[in-house]
Amino acid sequence: MTADLGGVAAPLKASGSRSSLGQLAAARRATLAEDEALVTKMEATSLNVSYAGRTVVRDVSFPVISNQVTAIIGPSGSGKSSVLRCFNRMNELIPKAVVSGSVRLDDEDIYASGVQVVEVRRRVGLVFQRPNPFPMSIYENVAYGPRRLGERNRARLDEIVERSIRQAALWEEVSDDLRRKSGLALSGGQQQRLCIARVLATEPEVILMDEPASALDPIATLQIEELMRELIEKYTIVIVTHNMQEAARASDHTVFMSMGTDRAGYLVERGPTRQLFSMPTHKLTEDYITGRFG
Ligand SMILES: Nc1ncnc2c1ncn2[C@@H]1O[C@H](COP(=O)(O)OP(=O)(O)OP(=O)(O)O)[C@@H](O)[C@H]1O
Ligand SMILES: [Mg+2]
Repeated sequence: MTADLGGVAAPLKASGSRSSLGQLAAARRATLAEDEALVTKMEATSLNVSYAGRTVVRDVSFPVISNQVTAIIGPSGSGKSSVLRCFNRMNELIPKAVVSGSVRLDDEDIYASGVQVVEVRRRVGLVFQRPNPFPMSIYENVAYGPRRLGERNRARLDEIVERSIRQAALWEEVSDDLRRKSGLALSGGQQQRLCIARVLATEPEVILMDEPASALDPIATLQIEELMRELIEKYTIVIVTHNMQEAARASDHTVFMSMGTDRAGYLVERGPTRQLFSMPTHKLTEDYITGRFG
């Protein structure tokens, strides 16, 4: 399926910080062919989310392109996390949360009756804002998911643990301590990569990340960004971030949300990151990415 990336408006007058973010986004993408074939991995259509009867997300639709990083940006309270949670049905764990609309994963609506929620959450993994390792060894943290899915073979578990920790770019730092050291004894950046390894262990297709670097220092943040660029060889990533540099550097496609006068979050504009950061269509987007509001 070919992705519709949305329209682009005439360029606005360049402002300093916006154009440098645009250059950042353009520089990273410069080597990629303009007309590469894009495939839609997931697609949200007319999503609405309410908590206890209060609508916080209204009519949000966008595609998530396969093997790309899609960034969701927008001011606090605009519903970014609520939208992200729709992509693996995590809102169902929140009492009084109601979701309407549809989310497709490949050609299946994940909200259709008969769909196994456990399977959806395996195929679409979620990494939280604060690293949340379990109070157990590094090895057991990563083996936890596969064990719950029924894997009992010791050699296969060893293999999965090593592969996942390697993919999360953590192996060199922890390979000597796998069984001895608790996941909680790692640094914040290492804990976040451990949580990514834990998600990778169940072989997801899509990885959702809600501000995965917001609790990390600049070096660890860059490591997570580099890791995302490596992971998209195999996976599809959706990330929520408040960090405009991070969105410009690490994402391919950006979705900008804001809050309407009714206080419900809505999608203002979306498009290729390079375009959205260098020539946003809406004044609201321009003001947000240049730091004038939000
Ligand atoms: N579990 C919940 N129960 C009730 N209301 C909630 C819940 N989670 C979020 N909300 C409300 O929904 C609205 C959108 O919240 P959400 O967390 O999706 O925004 P966000 O864009 O991720 O914000 P932030 O940038 O601060 O993380 C907010 O008004 C928030 O108070
Ligand atoms: Mg949030």
